[in-house]
Parts: sequence; structure tokens; C-alpha cells
Amino acid sequence: MSVALNAVERMDALAEGQGGFFYPWTSTLGADDGEDAYTALVERHLSPDLSVLEAGCGHGPDVLRFAPQVARYGGYDFSEGFVRIAGARAAAAGLTNVELICSNSSAGANDGRPRIPMPDASVDMIVSRRGPTNFILDAPRVVRPGGWLIQLNPMPSPRYAWDDELPEDLRSEPARDFDMAGHICGLLAQAGLALHSSWAFDVPEYFTDARQLYAYLAWNQFHGLGLRAQPLESALPALEAVMERHAGPEGLDVRRRRYLWSSRIL
Ligand SMILES: C[S@@+](CC[C@H](N)C(=O)[O-])C[C@H]1O[C@@H](n2cnc3c(N)ncnc32)[C@H](O)[C@@H]1O
Repeated sequence: MSVALNAVERMDALAEGQGGFFYPWTSTLGADDGEDAYTALVERHLSPDLSVLEAGCGHGPDVLRFAPQVARYGGYDFSEGFVRIAGARAAAAGLTNVELICSNSSAGANDGRPRIPMPDASVDMIVSRRGPTNFILDAPRVVRPGGWLIQLNPMPSPRYAWDDELPEDLRSEPARDFDMAGHICGLLAQAGLALHSSWAFDVPEYFTDARQLYAYLAWNQFHGLGLRAQPLESALPALEAVMERHAGPEGLDVRRRRYLWSSRIL
């Protein structure tokens, strides 16, 4: 019987096993999947006098990318392993304006109300690439008037037509139809904030190799539910059959979906 790991344990396992938050599969991704748009949007808002905080900084790719463009760059993450790796990478890059904290901003970890590990009115902007959404509720306390929140959120793919043909432990998670735009707007409204701009991205992600499809599906189980799937070799015949039946000329399409939004603190 597999034991489900909680969210922090999952991230610490990735920090130890992979050295960071990397997708461990190879696929062909359609252009403009939202990641570059997020980078460009954040960079348009950066300037050398700003103090910026990153929610869910992971192993620090955006720390290295954005910190050289601002006065102060803080980041927090609930995985001690990720914070350690991000700190070592920032030091190796010679960044002296970076401060990273191991902290969980969720309500459950903070007496029932989300809490950002920063003092009142201490930053000009919060950015987050696929990090937690709970920080939104505490953002008006931490971000100075006129400041921005910018986040890129993963949106689950719709349930696959071939889901029932997968081995049971590799099938879609229950939260396939999660309404990310509604979730973000609901949190902003609760925080007394409004959406400034938003964009939804939905592009093809093709698999041509059943082994890579296994890596993708097994990751979704581990990342979403914290469960380890059966070994590759036992799952392979069923996955090869799915590919044979359902892949088009470019491969089997699982979709890659993202939601990008910004909000201004007034
Ligand atoms: C999808 S990963 C992205 C990491 C990084 N932003 C990147 O682009 O590689 C999400 C990150 O958010 C962190 N995280 C999720 N929920 C959190 C919370 N409640 N408090 C702090 N960090 C959290 C996870 O540990 C993880 O590093």
C-alpha cells in the first residue's frame, strides 16, 4: 500500500531527489504556454528601486532571473530543501540583495488565516510562478499602496477521453474541472482587491513515447495526491495501448493550461 505524502513532504522529496522543481518528462509543447508571458509581465513591472517578494520561490529560478533587476528581492517557500538550494544558487550568482525564508503562508499553518512572512507595508510587489494562492488574503497588509500582485497558476487539463483506459493509479485526479479564474477572483474579492488583467493559456502538449507519458502521469499523482504510482514496467503495456488507440499524427495531447493575472493594491 502506498503512503500519501503531505504537500511539504512532496516538495522536500523533489528537492532531495531532483534538486529542484523540474518536470521529469520530455514532451512537445505548443508555443505561448504562459510561462514566457509571465516573465515578460513581471519584468515590465520591475525597476531598480523596488522591493519584491516571491511566494513559493522553489529552487530559485526566478530569484536568479528577477533579483538583479530590483533593489531587494525576498522569497519564501515551505520546503526547507528548496529554500536551501535557492539560497546556495543566489550566493553562487553573487546576489547580495536576496533574502529567503522557509515559511508556510497557508491558513492551516497560521492559526486559521493565511500569513505572508513579512512586516506590514514592506514590499512593492508580490510575484509567484505557480506558487500558493493563499498569500492573496494577506497581501493588502504587506504590499504598499500602488503595488502589484502578479501570479501564474497551473490549471488542470480537462479529463482525458482515454482516462478510463489507464491503470487505476495513473488516472486523472478528481479536481480536473477546478475553476482557477473563479478561485483567484474569489480570493481577491475576500481581500478587498480586484483583478486588473488576466489571460488564460491552453496549448497542446504531445507525447510520442509511452515511457514519457508514464513520467507525466506518475508525476501528476505524486504532485497532486502525494501517491507513488506502480512501477513503469507494469504500467507500460496499458500506456502503449492508449498511445496506439488515441495518439494523433503529433502524439497524444494532454493539454498544458495556465492562468495569468495581475491585481493592483490601491
Ligand atoms: C510549482 S512550484 C514552483 C516553484 C518556483 N516558483 C518555480 O517556478 O520553479 C510551487 C512552489 O510553491 C511552494 N508552496 C506551495 N504552497 C506553499 C505555501 N503554502 N507556503 C509556502 N510555499 C508554498 C512549493 O513548495 C513549491 O516550491
